Order: sequence, then C-alpha cells, then structure tokens
Amino acid sequence: MAIAAELGLVPATPRAPHENTPLADGRTTNAMFAEQPLKLGLFGTNCSYGLTMSEAATGYELTWPHTLEIAQKADRIGFEALVPVARWRGFGSTTNYNGTCFETYTWAAGLSQATERITVFATSHVPTVHPIVAAKMATTIDHISGGRFGLNIVMGWFSPEMEMFDGTQREHDERYAYGQEWMDFVGRLWSEPGSFDVESTFFSCQDVEAYPKPVQGPRPVLINAGNSPAGMAFSARNVDVNFAAMTTVEDMADYTKRLRELARTDYDRDVSAMTYGLIVCRDTEAEAHAVYQDILDKGDRDGANNLMKVAGMQMRSLDAQIAAFQDRFIAGWGGYPIIGTPEQVVDELGRIHAAGMGGMIMGLLDYSAELDYFDDKIMPLLKEAGLRV
Ligand SMILES: Cc1cc2nc3c(=O)[nH]c(=O)nc-3n(C[C@H](O)[C@H](O)[C@H](O)COP(=O)(O)O)c2cc1C
Repeated sequence: MAIAAELGLVPATPRAPHENTPLADGRTTNAMFAEQPLKLGLFGTNCSYGLTMSEAATGYELTWPHTLEIAQKADRIGFEALVPVARWRGFGSTTNYNGTCFETYTWAAGLSQATERITVFATSHVPTVHPIVAAKMATTIDHISGGRFGLNIVMGWFSPEMEMFDGTQREHDERYAYGQEWMDFVGRLWSEPGSFDVESTFFSCQDVEAYPKPVQGPRPVLINAGNSPAGMAFSARNVDVNFAAMTTVEDMADYTKRLRELARTDYDRDVSAMTYGLIVCRDTEAEAHAVYQDILDKGDRDGANNLMKVAGMQMRSLDAQIAAFQDRFIAGWGGYPIIGTPEQVVDELGRIHAAGMGGMIMGLLDYSAELDYFDDKIMPLLKEAGLRV
C-alpha cells in the first residue's frame, strides 16, 4: 500500500466542488481562441539568434530585458502567441545556434506576469519533465496569467540534448508512445478530482493528485509540432493546434486537409494547424531580398549541417537540395520564409491562410524593431485583406 494511503493523507474536510474544476472557459480567457482569421505569434524569442542561424546584424539579444520588451510589444500590438523553443544545448560551430536560452516554463511564468492578453506558451520536452511537475507548473502559470497559458508538447528529437538527461534517446515512434502516456497523465491531473494511481508502460505512480486545477477549462491550450505520421496522429488525438513545418503552400493545403480528416475520422474531434517561418519585410522588394541574402551570406553553414545530420537530412543526395535545406534552417529554423514588401507579405499570408493555416508563428531578424514596422505597415493591410479584425 502506498504510504500516503497507509497514513490516511486525505484532507479532513472534502474539497469544495469548485476546487475540482477549472475556474473559466478557456475560450474566454485564451487569445488562441480569439476570433481572428489569421492568428499571429512569435517563435524563438527565448534563444540566442532567434530564428536566424547567422551573424547578420540585428539588435536582437538574449537578455531578460530584451525578451520582455519583445513580449510586451507583441502583446500591445495584438499578437496572439509567444512560443519558445525548448533547447538544452546549441548546435556547435560558430554561432552555437540557440545554445544560450531561457528554460521555457520559467520564461512563460515571468512573461505571463508582465503581459495582459497574449497567450504565453512553454515548450516541453516530455522526457525531461515528470508529468506531475509539468501539470503543476502549467497550472501555476495558468493562474499567473489568468488563463492565458499554453503548452507546446514536443518529444525531443535532438539526441545530443536528450542524452544529457539520462543517456538514452527512444526510437522515433516510441517517443510518441511515451508522449501519449505523459499527456494522459497530465490531463488527468488537470481534470480529475481526488487522487488516483497510474500503472502504465512508462509510469508507476501511487495516489497522485494535483490542486489547484488550471484556470482555463477544459484544460490549458495545447499545441504539438509533430509532422510525421506518429506526430500527426498525436496532434489529431490530443491538441488544439498542430504546428507544421512546410516547404510549399501546396503542401500546406494537402497537409491541413489530411490532419483535419485524421482528427475527425479517428478521434471524432477538431484540430487546427499553424505554420512558422522567418518574415523579412521592407519597403521595397530589393531591400527585403538584400536583407535575406545577407542572412544567408553570413549564415552558419556548419551549424546548419550539424542540425541536419541529427535530423537525418544528410541522406538527401543532391547538393542543391542540401543547400536549399541549409538556407531554410539558416533563415527561419526550417520554416516557410516570406520575403518582400508589406503588400507581398500580406499576399503570401493570405495564400497560407487559404491553404488551411490558422496562424503564422513568425521569426524576425530583429524582433523588437520589426514588430514596430509590422504594426505600422503590415497590420493595416492584413485588416484590409480580411485576415485580421
Ligand atoms: C514549429 C515547430 C516547433 C518545434 N519546436 C521544437 C522545440 O522547441 N524543441 C524541440 O526539441 N523540437 C521542436 N520541434 C520538433 C518537433 O517536435 C518534431 O520533432 C519535428 O517537427 C519532427 O516531427 P516528428 O516528431 O513527427 O517526426 C518543433 C517543430 C516545429 C515544426
């Protein structure tokens, strides 16, 4: 018998019914459910070099005052999401890309206190945090933010950092099997009254409980960035938004259709999708392309190669293909780049939206300065185009 049960560690007075349920409907507290045709977010503002693996000149730096300034600006101009990258080490070479970074739950807690409307995510590698700790941290941040917390659940693909924890990295689909048990466990802690035991393949835990429950019901908003068949199935089954790495707009249309069908037919639920990438917007097309080219020219190609090797992309045979992939990683973490004038950027965002993407979680070379530009030059055009209300 578990010691807690032996000792009779139960509250002398039963919990009041309201303690056993979330306090509010997440749809009313969380900007991820706002009525915005195209949601907007920032990606990677917790890591050195953000989304550009390059020495191109930028005012971006990884300090708390600067990450805070970016978050508050994005909140003020009406962005919906701040999504951090979960990282425990860099990719070596000259930039050691993303190697200096803030841990994401504590980052989200700090930014939640300092913002008003935007949804602040933590990105959690499931094997690095026990479900009881994760559920509790998420709930705490949900209370700090008044129901604006979100969790990006990732399985941990970068083996050198997973090996930092206990020397092991599970095989690809087994990571998702572990992730499913982790998710089920966390979900029960957020929603079930009283205590329960967990006996499963990966967990054996007695008499577990978690109070308080989150603010937003039925649970904090969830996203997942799995794009393989196992990853899509995980998203279709568990989360609100799948976060997708896409090469072309045509791929996006096909992908979002398949994802939605999978969720509907296999799990009888809805899931939406968002994508990500670097936006380089300037008054003229020539200026925008010059900035993009400078990012590539000053790119850390050895770092990109390190990343691609671990991701299994070294098998691609054509040099041109390798160079194209390198470019995508150097300028936008493998996401879909958008380069041009405000009008061209809005056109491209319209195409992405028409391809079934409900949001763009972007990188900017110099987040803070370019957010001002975004607000002045791009936001009004997005409204004219009906992509924002
Ligand atoms: C937008 C996006 C964000 C991601 N963020 C992280 C992250 O912060 N940390 C991480 O280790 N992996 C991250 N990943 C990797 C994914 O979790 C996943 O491993 C990858 O997309 C491959 O999909 P698969 O796991 O289904 O094979 C991200 C992927 C995407 C597309």
